Amino acid sequence: MADGDGNINSKNYYLDKPAANEGYHMKGLGNLDWGMKDRLSRMFRPDTGHTVMLAFDHGYIMGSTSGLERLDIVVPRLASHVDVLMGTRGAIRTCVPPTFNKAVALRCSAGSSVLDEDMSHEVVGVDIDDAIRMNASAMAIQTFIGAPGEKSSIDNLCRTIDAGNRYGIPTLGVVAVGKQMERTTKYFLLATRMVAEFGAHIVKTYYCEDFDKVVAACPVPIVMAGGKKLPENEALTLTYRAIQGGAAGVDMGRNIFQADDPPAMVQAVAKVVHEGFTDKQAFEYYQHIHNGGAS
Ligand code: R5P
Repeated sequence: MADGDGNINSKNYYLDKPAANEGYHMKGLGNLDWGMKDRLSRMFRPDTGHTVMLAFDHGYIMGSTSGLERLDIVVPRLASHVDVLMGTRGAIRTCVPPTFNKAVALRCSAGSSVLDEDMSHEVVGVDIDDAIRMNASAMAIQTFIGAPGEKSSIDNLCRTIDAGNRYGIPTLGVVAVGKQMERTTKYFLLATRMVAEFGAHIVKTYYCEDFDKVVAACPVPIVMAGGKKLPENEALTLTYRAIQGGAAGVDMGRNIFQADDPPAMVQAVAKVVHEGFTDKQAFEYYQHIHNGGAS
């Protein structure tokens, strides 16, 4: 095993050179089988290579969350504007009509709540059979690198990747930031790369300084998690910086469903992700929609 101490600092990220993509629109995934690519293409638009995922899986650790009190009202209102619905099977089966025909990133890890001081001990909470029944385009598993539950969360990830590989369902590896965990570039470089090397097909992580280096060093696409609620203009700046830094999209929750105007916000986010809007243009668009303008 490589020694953890005394390593030379990484520096050769070749930020001016695009990653090889083997003729497929998603980095590092050109060698996958047809079924995997079909599912990934439902999530990441082939024309832009990007995705807007709506995260509404918060209830699995937080219970009823501000903005998500009525999943059956909130999610259908936003669903037509996003590419992917990311939620638990309980939320999706009960509150999301199967008529939207959106890709589903199914939250498959579970095991702790906000009442737990150390939230890093999870299990695989969904069987592969049920992910198939849900027609999941991906299974999402949280990993807690550097936390007490690190090993078991890596085991959850690897077992899910193995199960998904048997049936052609990609795995979204989620880099967790627990109560005691750091949010530094060094940490995200470590965690995202580990998750990708275990075989995750997509990695979800938070924005950080030198985000472009985190993206460059991760051999598969990264989607940015939104994080806590920010003023709408700042959330759009965060989105813009992530896309500029090479993110393949966002998996955003609170900054959409807790916005003053969630449908306007999700449309503004999509303008940045898919249409190259700057944060300033997107905020103007948000205000336009919020004030009753046409999409
Ligand atoms: C983490 O994986 C959570 O379950 C959420 O999906 C994630 O935090 C994204 O939501 P938010 O944008 O509200 O942070």
